[in-house]
Amino acid sequence: MTNMENVDAVIDGAKISALKGEDLPIVYIHGSGCDASIWMNQLEELGGYAVDLPNHGKSCFAEIRSVDDYAYFVAKFVKKILGKAIIIGHSLGGAIVQKICIEYGDIVKAVGLISTGARLRVLPEILQGLEKNPDETSKIISEFSFLDSTLKKKYSKIFAERNKILLKDLMLCDKFDLLDKYRNNEIKILCPTVIVVGRYDKLTPPKYSQFLNERIKSSEIYIVDNAGHMVMLEKPVEFNRILKNFIERLV
Ligand code: COA
Repeated sequence: MTNMENVDAVIDGAKISALKGEDLPIVYIHGSGCDASIWMNQLEELGGYAVDLPNHGKSCFAEIRSVDDYAYFVAKFVKKILGKAIIIGHSLGGAIVQKICIEYGDIVKAVGLISTGARLRVLPEILQGLEKNPDETSKIISEFSFLDSTLKKKYSKIFAERNKILLKDLMLCDKFDLLDKYRNNEIKILCPTVIVVGRYDKLTPPKYSQFLNERIKSSEIYIVDNAGHMVMLEKPVEFNRILKNFIERLV
């Protein structure tokens, strides 16, 4: 792993940290129980900033009660460091991106919605399991997240170590629901939008991405073969090609 620079911003007294690759106005947002390093393949090849959400990675504690609170911190970070950016979010990160589009549209150049959805209900067995039997449930979540067996093994350990914040994030996902607002045309995402999902994503199936594609007129969708929920980790070459092509057409 290449040594990367850390870029910090203090927001409402909390340090928010990001890993920085080549200087590009892209901000990546990780999903539940993950951190900035999940975007290492993108930082190394494309550049940009991968933020650690509050209470994750190198970022400090902040009171987070909803996806909106995460959106607030990321939006402030983007405004402070870049002014305006292409904002790419994975899973929970994609929910945060949608909220940023709704609440803080002035900081958004374009967005990426990766393995995410307009609603992110979580299996009750996962939520209860993380509370009662975190090691076993972390293994199950990792099984659901990847097709690749080496990554499954690696992340089952990482998720077990971070089971408390993983549970908290998944509880926030479970409450996130914009489905009816999209259906009633109450949400207007008008910026260029790239939607990417793994064909075998079990946690946020392609159907969720297709729904977003139908509702966001300015969007394009890519379904990546031989990939599960963690498409940017499992298929970095294909994923980066899609993102690079999207970014190049924005200029
Ligand atoms: N986009 C489009 N459609 C969606 C959607 C989304 N984000 N979320 C739900 N829907 C649809 C479902 O496909 C379903 O449609 P159908 O009736 O035509 O089959 C309908 O809305 C009902 O939603 P569903 O999520 O199935 O609600 P539920 O209460 O019946 O089931 C779960 C809840 C948790 C069992 C289910 O959401 C699930 O299996 N989730 C995936 C596993 C998981 O835990 N993911 C974590 C995400 S971070």
